[in-house]
Amino acid sequence: MTTSFTSLFTQSTLNSGATLDSKFVMAPMVAEGSSFEGYVGLDDLAYFNRRSKTASLLITGATAVAPYGNAFGYGLASLDDSYLPGLTDLAKTMKQDNAKAVLQLFHPGREARYSYQTEGVAYGPSTKQFSFLDYPTTELSNEQIEEMIQAFALATSRAIRAGFDGIEIHGANHYLIQQFFSTISNTRIYMSQILLITK
Ligand SMILES: Cc1cc2nc3c(=O)[nH]c(=O)nc-3n(C[C@H](O)[C@H](O)[C@H](O)COP(=O)(O)O)c2cc1C
Repeated sequence: MTTSFTSLFTQSTLNSGATLDSKFVMAPMVAEGSSFEGYVGLDDLAYFNRRSKTASLLITGATAVAPYGNAFGYGLASLDDSYLPGLTDLAKTMKQDNAKAVLQLFHPGREARYSYQTEGVAYGPSTKQFSFLDYPTTELSNEQIEEMIQAFALATSRAIRAGFDGIEIHGANHYLIQQFFSTISNTRIYMSQILLITK
């Protein structure tokens, strides 16, 4: 019996109307090719230069949208418009062979171990010590949460200006968004419920 994989090499049209040349998508993977501050580096460009022909949709590794977001040491960031020229080069490199380029946005929250090393603080939904981290997590204020939401919006606008075709919001892997959904890392949910019950 022979198996035909020809359909993998046929076009797809997404609900948005965007057309992909094949069914191949490259999953987001942190490449650690950026500067320590997260500016796109020559290694980031070389990495996607080599992969530009491999898939019809390429997703970058997790890109930090706000300060105190350094989880990998040399991962991507998009903290303000000074990151725009590098991100523009990155989008251009990813799209050189007609692939669609997606920027993955995230904040690592408590997992920002390199921010803890340089800034002495790592933020999360609640102040807590986790057995698997050798530093504490400090609770974000309500104002900082609003700023964080705004940071995702600003990074999205920057991705559009840089020429990316889309963004992906990373809500898994114990990073900030997932930390908010977990009652283990987010005890402020309990606090507000207790206050409601006792009133
Ligand atoms: C080196 C490496 C870096 C990764 N970085 C990210 C990342 O930045 N964002 C993400 O959502 N997933 C990341 N992942 C997870 C992959 O995107 C993928 O979901 C995972 O490898 C499972 O896919 P598989 O079953 O095809 O191996 C990473 C995986 C590896 C191996």
